[in-house]
Amino acid sequence: MIGMKIAFFDTKPYDTIWFEPLSKEYGYQIRYYDYRLNSDTAVLAEGYDVVCVFVNDKVCAKTIQTLKKCGVKMIALRCAGYNNVDISAAAEARLPVVRVPSYSPSAVAEHAAALLLAVNRKTHRAYYRIRDNNFSINGLMGFDLNGKTAGIIGTGQIGTIFARIAAGFGMRVLAYDPFPKDQPLEFVPLDQLITSSDIISLHCPLTPDTFHIINKQRVRQMKKGVVIINTSRGALIDTEALLEGLIDGHIGGAGLDVYEEEGDYFFEDKSGEIIRDEELSRLLTLPNVLVTSHQAFFTREAMQAIAMVTLENICALEQGRPLENLVLPR
Ligand code: NAI
Repeated sequence: MIGMKIAFFDTKPYDTIWFEPLSKEYGYQIRYYDYRLNSDTAVLAEGYDVVCVFVNDKVCAKTIQTLKKCGVKMIALRCAGYNNVDISAAAEARLPVVRVPSYSPSAVAEHAAALLLAVNRKTHRAYYRIRDNNFSINGLMGFDLNGKTAGIIGTGQIGTIFARIAAGFGMRVLAYDPFPKDQPLEFVPLDQLITSSDIISLHCPLTPDTFHIINKQRVRQMKKGVVIINTSRGALIDTEALLEGLIDGHIGGAGLDVYEEEGDYFFEDKSGEIIRDEELSRLLTLPNVLVTSHQAFFTREAMQAIAMVTLENICALEQGRPLENLVLPR
């Protein structure tokens, strides 16, 4: 007997590897769509109990209305962030939204550290030079992390681990979080963090309060040569302000796993196409910028946890148990 029927949007090969065997154990049937979920594709959910979505599916009010009409009973995010879902509209439609609040915070914090090390020591450039038999080290000078100050914005699961990693490098760690927990960290006001840090790493969610938390004014307040790392959400940074700071040399480098307008590009092979996003194109030309395609989460451990928690969330709905990972409107 088939249990829940799931319409799975924005499918990539690595999703099926983890979801398919596990869904069989649950007795669930998954229909994998390559399409992203949006108001045009929502009709594909007709006849399914649950839609399973990722970071770049657009679950707006119109999409939600269509899902409801199609008989969908739940929106299951297979990620932590939920800024792409209109949570109030879902609540109004009585359509529960669940997420995977944590799959591998270490994976993301470790990737942030990888970006920091690469941008600072220019490993991405050294790799290409040596492949071309260019053994010159001119222009590859970085700075010691030991003794510098790391500013961490958002000290939840990922930020806390990144703080530990930074401390391991011998850095002084400053933290800003409007809802600090009882943590042995040096919390300071945001302005102080911005003016005092040699590197700034973003680990807060994207909300109306954090949209463009890094803007023109804050860039100007930063130390000259600051390195900015963003593994959270692209729109935490005003890209125009970032570009301005990078081009005039005020910002020393940026490691970005996310980008404000990533939806049209990230996770897709666009190697045969022209990138029409001028800000992304410009970023990619700068030698002191390293962009990865929202891959910070992408470890075996995280993928396994994503599949397990997502299917467990769906199982809770099926069995009428409380939805532990329910997302509520703010
Ligand atoms: P979390 O919920 O454990 O921590 C977020 C922290 O941000 C909380 O301590 C919260 O109080 C704080 N915060 C809220 N508003 C803030 C503000 N205005 N200023 C500063 N801090 C604020 O979340 P977690 O697991 O640490 O994830 C953080 C973010 O990382 C997620 O929201 C998501 O956007 C991103 N992420 C990125 C992934 C990737 O692959 N690149 C994978 C997973 C998460």
